[in-house]
Amino acid sequence: MRISVIGCGYLGAVHAACMAKLGHEVVGIELDESKAKALASAEAPFFEPGLDDLLQDVQQTARLTFTSDIARASGSHVHFICVGTPQKKGENGADLTYVHEAVRALIPYLSPGDVLVGKSTVPVGTAAGLARLVADHVPGVHVVWNPEFLREGHAIQDTLQPDRFVYGVADGSEDNVAVTILDKVYETPLADGTVRLVVDLPTAELVKTAANSFLATKISFINAMAELCDAAGADVTQLADAIGLDERIGRKFLQAGIGFGGGCLPKDIRAFMARAGELGADQALTFLREVDAINMRRRTRVVELTRELCVDGLLGKRITVLGAAFKPDSDDVRDSPSLSIAAQLQLQGAVVTVTDPKALANASRRFPELQYEPELDQALRNADAVLLLTEWSEYRDLDPYVVKDLVTEPRILDGRNVLDSAKWRTAGWQYRGLGRP
Ligand code: UDX
Repeated sequence: MRISVIGCGYLGAVHAACMAKLGHEVVGIELDESKAKALASAEAPFFEPGLDDLLQDVQQTARLTFTSDIARASGSHVHFICVGTPQKKGENGADLTYVHEAVRALIPYLSPGDVLVGKSTVPVGTAAGLARLVADHVPGVHVVWNPEFLREGHAIQDTLQPDRFVYGVADGSEDNVAVTILDKVYETPLADGTVRLVVDLPTAELVKTAANSFLATKISFINAMAELCDAAGADVTQLADAIGLDERIGRKFLQAGIGFGGGCLPKDIRAFMARAGELGADQALTFLREVDAINMRRRTRVVELTRELCVDGLLGKRITVLGAAFKPDSDDVRDSPSLSIAAQLQLQGAVVTVTDPKALANASRRFPELQYEPELDQALRNADAVLLLTEWSEYRDLDPYVVKDLVTEPRILDGRNVLDSAKWRTAGWQYRGLGRP
């Protein structure tokens, strides 16, 4: 099929490459010319494991091109909207400017019978509004909402072999012609057994925000338990193992630590609350305010613990922060808890050095006042305290004996509860976890 993908960021670039991998003829449209050029030369403008290889692989087939010219969407039968919906400045709601601009720009190139597929995360009600807008200009275009559940760091696998497809169509019916067309787009994963659910437009929009809210709630739940464990002298990692063995609960997303960040969970729960307020259902989501508050308290807690760890205050202390990205295997620093903590420590007089295998360029653009060191050994040298804040495998695998020879004071705060505390203590380190005695 001929497909256009509008917006080639973390979501769209992967989606475009994966659609070409599935055998479709794809044009990726990205307004940022430098990003479009990089993608056209099979170079991902951000780090996502396997993406460079996938781009090279599919570009050899000539099925994938990238451009900044939206007119190239003309002739495609299916158009995916993959642009960002960031948090509005100074407000909780989602900023839909990019979605509206993308759809308006696309309208002149749509033909009756085309399918416009929204993948961006939007407040419930957006799709119906866009369907009316499109119908005013080009009758006979099907507007579908097909939310994306990909995780950064696993984006290719999550796109090619997702847990499920959700199709939101105007009448919520299996017989909708757009269902047949999307089934053709996803023919391979569907043949492999991926479940597909057909729902109406508002349900599809809500599925995405509900899923992200549930994940955020699960993380904040275990972080609230970490607060209690701290108060009671218990161990939250053992508690999570024990409750996680109950199949109804499950161990995934029960990793207590410095909390969630990134371009999705924080802004999505806020936009969800804002939208519920507009719909007169704000009470239904007031618990998300607490989820957000627990998450934010983690950052303050780490600053306090670092102060305790350093014994006589933060002023002038050399702190090494391991990890800048909001999670490992990503260079994304949007709302990164690690960088937020690093900045707070620096403001309180510590001398902070941040290291990360992939995210330093993005981090230094966002927080130019921090000091960055790409070499791990160099970053660790002469530290008064080490903070593991993003659990890249190279940090999880550090040898406490080797690192001890580099630092000034063997003090470590394990912000993700991923280190073997006994091993580090035996090696002579003062070890602190979060919610661990
Ligand atoms: C999330 C959703 O998982 C995905 O389905 C959706 O499409 C986009 O938002 P992503 O933002 O890539 O994906 O990251 P995710 O793996 O969900 O992690 C989010 C944050 O939660 C990270 O900062 C991570 O470190 C943190 N986290 C995750 C925890 O603190 N504890 C956990 O147990 C799990």
